[in-house]
Amino acid sequence: MANDEKWFDKKMDRREFLKKAGIGGAGLALGVSGASAFFANQANEDKKFADGDEEISFYGEHQAGITTPMQKNIYFVILDLHTTDRDAIIQMFKDWTAYSEKLVDGELVKKDGSNALLPPTDTGETVGLNPYRLTLTFGVSASFLKKMGLSDKRPKAFRDLPPFPKEQLKEKYTGGDIVIQACADDEQVAFHAVRNLVRKGRSAISMKWSQSGFAAIGDRMATPRNLFGFKDGTANVTKEKDFDRVIWTDSKDWMKGGSYMAVRRIQMFLETWDRTNLQEQENTFGRYKESGAPFGKKDEFDEVDLDLLPVDSHVRLAKEVDKPIYRRSYSYSDGIDETTGQFDTGLLFISFQKDPDSFVKVQTNLGAQDKMNEYVTHVGSGLFACFGGVKKGEYIGQKLFE
Ligand code: HEM
Repeated sequence: MANDEKWFDKKMDRREFLKKAGIGGAGLALGVSGASAFFANQANEDKKFADGDEEISFYGEHQAGITTPMQKNIYFVILDLHTTDRDAIIQMFKDWTAYSEKLVDGELVKKDGSNALLPPTDTGETVGLNPYRLTLTFGVSASFLKKMGLSDKRPKAFRDLPPFPKEQLKEKYTGGDIVIQACADDEQVAFHAVRNLVRKGRSAISMKWSQSGFAAIGDRMATPRNLFGFKDGTANVTKEKDFDRVIWTDSKDWMKGGSYMAVRRIQMFLETWDRTNLQEQENTFGRYKESGAPFGKKDEFDEVDLDLLPVDSHVRLAKEVDKPIYRRSYSYSDGIDETTGQFDTGLLFISFQKDPDSFVKVQTNLGAQDKMNEYVTHVGSGLFACFGGVKKGEYIGQKLFE
């Protein structure tokens, strides 16, 4: 390859191609007849999820990836600081902002390649791929604030999670200073985003733990099922006005427009579950497996009558606390557990809430009594303050450093 050739130009950029051909985005809605209408309609149907041409802006009042309808894949990473140099960290957030804007638009983080003696800035595995609704959500932990000498800015409600009954946390999945949550309808797109952000920040951070995950999003309006085969996310609020009540903080300071993210890596013992009869499985949640309806009701979204649910059922215990949280969890499958020879699988539980105490109250009630504890163990944990949205011209977390 000649030195002045751009290696990524060698391949047809699918997005450019679709745009030029006028069949991307709105182009698909053009009126056509006969056989071509069939193909256009077919394409329209397929496009909904397959094409991945839909972009979600990085900028806004709130960060994307919180109330955004769930994507199919997550790549989640927790990072540790290895410098507390304020200027270096601010620069990293500035770089991440510039990269994020490009990434969610489905572009390379930087178009270069004219000097073949240098590694390309973008790692390149998404050349030709659409953005697949990529969202990037950033947050910091209480340890971040402490290390950076910003403890005076720590909101009172924001402290490390207390110990919970029955948890068996492993150091390798616990703690950490910064979280990046990348979600997309394509696994490689989500991974590429984190890979390039981490690569850019390498001089200031190291990786503590990461987790990839998946969600069964067949129809964006349908609730995905978890690996126990139950619909998971039914009780989540869906309306803007409820988002203010449940998700977004009331803060006037750097957390304005932000939300607290609780994360738990929860191992699920599928072999034990799969030996459990259907009635017991349903008693575990207090909902019917097929319809997702609460006990005594017909439809998934029918109101839950707590008195009709077993006293130790997950839904009853989670709901009776009356502290709403917003769950956005992904299943994971990490090969085989070396000690048991069973699947190493579970749920990367993620919830967003305006006050971390809501999560604490719910988990405290579940921890000791939940019938589901027979089939799960919490092995990882974290609590992060996810900043409010970024305005164009600002950088991620700017208000924290002002
Ligand atoms: C492997 C772990 C878990 C599984 C498989 C699981 C599964 C479920 C299922 C199937 C439902 C019923 C449908 C729905 O409303 O989404 C549910 C509801 C719920 N879960 Fe979990 N869950 C897990 C962990 C947790 C944790 C750690 C928390 C919080 C500490 C939690 C909080 C809730 C809440 C608040 C509800 C809704 C209750 C209501 O208001 O009806 N879950 N979960």
